[in-house]
Amino acid sequence: MLLEVKDITVHYYKVSAVRNISINVEDGEIVALVGSNGAGKTTTLRAISGLKHPTTGEIIYKGQRIDKLPPHKINALGIAMVPEGRRVFPQMTVLENLLLGAFLRKDKDVVQKDMEEVVFKHFPRLKERTSQAAGTLSGGEQQMLAMGRALMSAPKLLLLDEPSLGLSPIMCMEIGKIIRDIHAGGKTVILVEQNARMALALSHHAYVIETGNIALTGPAKELLKNDDVKKAYLGG
Ligand SMILES: Nc1ncnc2c1ncn2[C@@H]1O[C@H](COP(=O)(O)OP(=O)(O)O)[C@@H](O)[C@H]1O
Ligand SMILES: [Mg+2]
Repeated sequence: MLLEVKDITVHYYKVSAVRNISINVEDGEIVALVGSNGAGKTTTLRAISGLKHPTTGEIIYKGQRIDKLPPHKINALGIAMVPEGRRVFPQMTVLENLLLGAFLRKDKDVVQKDMEEVVFKHFPRLKERTSQAAGTLSGGEQQMLAMGRALMSAPKLLLLDEPSLGLSPIMCMEIGKIIRDIHAGGKTVILVEQNARMALALSHHAYVIETGNIALTGPAKELLKNDDVKKAYLGG
């Protein structure tokens, strides 16, 4: 098991946003977390990446407890998050944004190589725009930049929060294809999506989160056929 989220509860002040959630991620999988707005998907990713510490439960990555570590330590262990809404730095160039992703790395000689062989391989459009201000990119390109920036930390596990949100159907398909390619290149992925159809089509396993609880889990292909899932998340 690459990542075990064991029975975590996460609070914002006194209110719990997720309760006793457990998620298992095998090395090499794409695991989807689907659910409506406010269900607790982002909170779960924030707990894994160290931005929000759980009040109870454990998170174990490669056999090591990480639920009390700060985000930069978790990033250094090989977990990178692409946040909801991309969060690129609009005034900075594409290149500067990408380099920020490698900020913590000591192996600076390999960083340049990764930019060429990993980031620009998946996102040739970014290579054409290295000196362009990130704020002038299209929504889809900003999503690519946010994903490229995360890849610059050379993660083993990539956490993607709503990568398709606000994008055109064609751009969604392109992002979906890139997620497949990144996975094929050796990354394990946790994919959070309100677009359940896309997420289930891309993933191996999936968890349905409803108001802070796991309502359902199973192989993604089975959830695609599940009547409750169809009714609630796939438009009947
Ligand atoms: N910073 C915050 N402060 C207080 N409550 C929050 C905060 N962020 C999220 N919440 C609450 O936690 C719950 C889960 O939110 P979130 O994890 O963002 O859901 P999702 O990503 O599935 O839409 C919601 O009820 C939301 O209002
Ligand atoms: Mg969210």
